[in-house]
Amino acid sequence: MAIRSMNIKDLQQVIVIEQSLFGTPWGYEDFLYELKVNPYGHLYVYELDGQIIGFIGMWFIYEDATITTLGVAKEFQRRGYAKELMDYAIKRSEEAGCEKCTLEVRVSNVPAIKLYESYGFKIVAIRKNYYTDTHEDAYLMLKGREDIGNDISD
Ligand SMILES: CC(C)(COP(=O)(O)OP(=O)(O)OC[C@H]1O[C@@H](n2cnc3c(N)ncnc32)[C@H](O)[C@@H]1OP(=O)(O)O)[C@@H](O)C(=O)NCCC(=O)NCCS
Repeated sequence: MAIRSMNIKDLQQVIVIEQSLFGTPWGYEDFLYELKVNPYGHLYVYELDGQIIGFIGMWFIYEDATITTLGVAKEFQRRGYAKELMDYAIKRSEEAGCEKCTLEVRVSNVPAIKLYESYGFKIVAIRKNYYTDTHEDAYLMLKGREDIGNDISD
């Protein structure tokens, strides 16, 4: 297990992976914002023999966690690394007090949807036209208590 917090020195390798995986990749400034500015942002990398092979991003906002990004370099996929990243990040979110987790995923992204379903995430809404590159819809997926944040009576 070689998962740790991302730092600025990792960004060159992270961005190469990011660009190879996503149609609208985050750039250097986007990662930098999450690392240095956003107080809710948490980024972790998977480092294998000195090489970054994957990463996951989260927001921890009180009881709500959100997965903001997840990627494993193509040549390292289907070896369980995303699961290790998910295990690690979900554990960190629970330690931070989060009781539910959400994410958005392209409706066509079967590998990611299968992965999230295996963690108990369920599709709770469709966000139409969510992605600017292809205008594809997103599924909003949720794991955990659905009631948190809706009841302010007590
Ligand atoms: C989604 C992604 C992170 C999975 O990474 P990975 O390291 O290959 O995943 P793992 O090997 O840990 O697989 C975990 C589970 O995910 C699902 N899965 C992963 N790849 C899959 C595929 N090609 N087809 C179907 N299910 C798949 C399976 O349920 C798998 O469990 P199993 O091996 O027991 O069947 C990777 O495909 C990726 O980087 N994709 C591009 C970026 C992306 O779409 N990120 C998600 C944005 S919301």
